[in-house]
Amino acid sequence: MAAFLAALSLPCTAFAGPEEDRLAFVSFFQSRFPDILFDEFANGIYAIDADSRAQWLEIEEFPPYEFAIEHGQSLWQKPFSNGSAYADCFKQPLAEVRAAYPAFDAGRAEVVTLEVAINDCRVANDETPFAYDASELIDLTAYLGYTARGKKIDVQIPADEPGALAAYEYGKRFYYSKRGQLNFACADCHVTSVGMRVRADRLSASLGHPTHFPVYRSKLGGMISLQQRFFGCVRDVRARPFELQSTEYRNLEFFLAYMSNGLTINGPGARK
Ligand code: HEC
Repeated sequence: MAAFLAALSLPCTAFAGPEEDRLAFVSFFQSRFPDILFDEFANGIYAIDADSRAQWLEIEEFPPYEFAIEHGQSLWQKPFSNGSAYADCFKQPLAEVRAAYPAFDAGRAEVVTLEVAINDCRVANDETPFAYDASELIDLTAYLGYTARGKKIDVQIPADEPGALAAYEYGKRFYYSKRGQLNFACADCHVTSVGMRVRADRLSASLGHPTHFPVYRSKLGGMISLQQRFFGCVRDVRARPFELQSTEYRNLEFFLAYMSNGLTINGPGARK
């Protein structure tokens, strides 16, 4: 495993392109959990923890995120003051909107997430953008996640687009960098210590994290985005969290979503 981590932590070697990284990432988790099928990693901690899985299956009988889907749907369908609507910005069929993000936008030379794309659409239509923790925005992504259920994560890093590779490498470095007073990298918990207990929690695999967001967290009684989770985990190691949708978190999301390519979108989700 040391060799695996060393291979992944080298920023850019001749042989470690994104696809080699992804295959190494997946095979690490598959050899750590030989009985868990690849697709199961989309279920996060419920893939590896039988007790919490049973509770979760009960919760899913009356999903606590249902109101968010309904609210998101009504927001999506409501026209802007100028008469246009979100669907005029997103040209792909509804069920394909979610899977189109995160993506590297060559014109802007940066990663665009679903949240950023929604706000861009609002600004283009003379509406004020949402704050990145606004429940309206999160509920819109809950609706888009729901309509995309069954589609695969399919992040592209075009070979002729050096900016996309640079954003990916940045996100990868972020993921493997130690930070905070506790001096932990994301990978220390979600790769090296996967399955182990941290106080009341067992650590889930990063493989599959992007599939099920946004999630309803019973602890908070509300929905949170993937980047709000990044924010919380960075704060928990006593490091300075970055702004939601900062370049840092967008690149991190780009890297993590690429690692989960081929997994099935199953959001929104429910978590402790
Ligand atoms: C000290 C250990 C620790 C570190 C370091 C850490 N996390 Fe976490 N993280 C947790 C715990 C505990 C949970 C809740 C249980 C779980 O699902 O793993 C969690 C949950 C998450 C989740 C939600 C999983 C889900 O399915 O709902 C995401 C996403 C996540 N972490 C991302 C990150 C990222 C990205 C980093 C690095 C910036 C990071 N974490 C660093 C401990 C850590």
